[in-house]
Amino acid sequence: MIHQNRQKELLSQLDDNALVIISTNPEQFRNGDVTYAFRPQSDFFYLTGFEEPEAVAVISRKHYSMFLRDKDPAREIWDGERLGLIDAPEVLKLNQALNINNLEDQLSQLISTDSTIYFDAKPCEFDAKITGLLADYSIKSLQEPLHKMRLIKDESEIKTMQKAADISIIAHQQAMQYVAPGMLECDLQSVFDAHFVKNNAEHAYTPIVAGGKNACILHYIKNNQPLNDGDLVLIDAGCEFNNYASDVSRVFPINGRFSDAQKSIYQIVLDAQLAAIECIKPGVSVHEPHKIASSIIQQGLELLGLLKAGEPLSKFYMHGTGHWLGMDVHDVGKYQHKQQHRNFEKGMVITVEPGIYIRKDDKINSIYADIGIRIEDDILVTESGNTVLTGNLIKTINDIEALMSKN
Ligand code: GLY
Ligand code: MN
Ligand code: MN
Repeated sequence: MIHQNRQKELLSQLDDNALVIISTNPEQFRNGDVTYAFRPQSDFFYLTGFEEPEAVAVISRKHYSMFLRDKDPAREIWDGERLGLIDAPEVLKLNQALNINNLEDQLSQLISTDSTIYFDAKPCEFDAKITGLLADYSIKSLQEPLHKMRLIKDESEIKTMQKAADISIIAHQQAMQYVAPGMLECDLQSVFDAHFVKNNAEHAYTPIVAGGKNACILHYIKNNQPLNDGDLVLIDAGCEFNNYASDVSRVFPINGRFSDAQKSIYQIVLDAQLAAIECIKPGVSVHEPHKIASSIIQQGLELLGLLKAGEPLSKFYMHGTGHWLGMDVHDVGKYQHKQQHRNFEKGMVITVEPGIYIRKDDKINSIYADIGIRIEDDILVTESGNTVLTGNLIKTINDIEALMSKN
């Protein structure tokens, strides 16, 4: 029923004669006849719950049809079972299942002259073909109403996101216990690879496992350098479970003990993160966590003499403090309404991920050089405040050192 209810809610926001056309991706080839693991398109999965490639749903107030691949015993030997046209109406609660091979001939038969068509073409050949078939019609975008819905997570989505968070928490804890000087970053990454796979999950994004100065490269994904005694390692890794993401960052000392300089920078980021999380509740501006985190980091860096009063913070903190999280790691949904920051509402999930990145530079005290810290958790907005979905993952200096000394 979840998907039918979502379709109804979506249609209730559209024109009376709305006809929604929404597709999922075909498989993508990596090379030769080797494909990447298939993942359904998020909007399509949200509305249909169907996870096979090459499908187009056509939804109106009167009917729900889907073009999909039919059974093909020869292909199924190679690629696995397909739902097929006979079982699809019952399983997906369709009025009609149609063969995807007949899309060109039959799509126009589902469109009446007074239909208002809603369709958003993704940049792929498959959608270009649908756009071609709709050339004679005027088309509206579905994104605003649909993404408004996706921004507010329902109970089943929250349960899935909690599961994704729980899997990621264990992997981060295991990594803290496994790390040792001399290990390669990819060896440490293998903790996440193994734990995610064991739990029927996968990486929600390319993980960052960055030792020492690599942590100051915001999108570092090489993950192939040695982890050195005395350095910190920053790990930004979260799993996707049942098409929902978690997004988690922790930083810890490779030898198990923070130096005093590392502690002082780490504590500023942690204080900023805790204060930013604390402010999240319905009615508060979504910009507030960034304002709070930035101000604490600015003060902390000024106290350490790393910034002069009024010097721009962007030298050491150059990214935002969070983003929507859901099926996509940088999930859909607007941050502003009528050019004003919107307010938090119950059911939204946002990351809170302040950081400080200090590159080697003649003008800074060298004890702080090459320290990169980001602490990231996933926050669900509740009726009266928030719940940290990743709240069971330790992050104080004492807790991290205590866990790492237990071996
Ligand atoms: N892992 C991606 C991000 O933190 O935004
Ligand atoms: Mn993030
Ligand atoms: Mn992240």
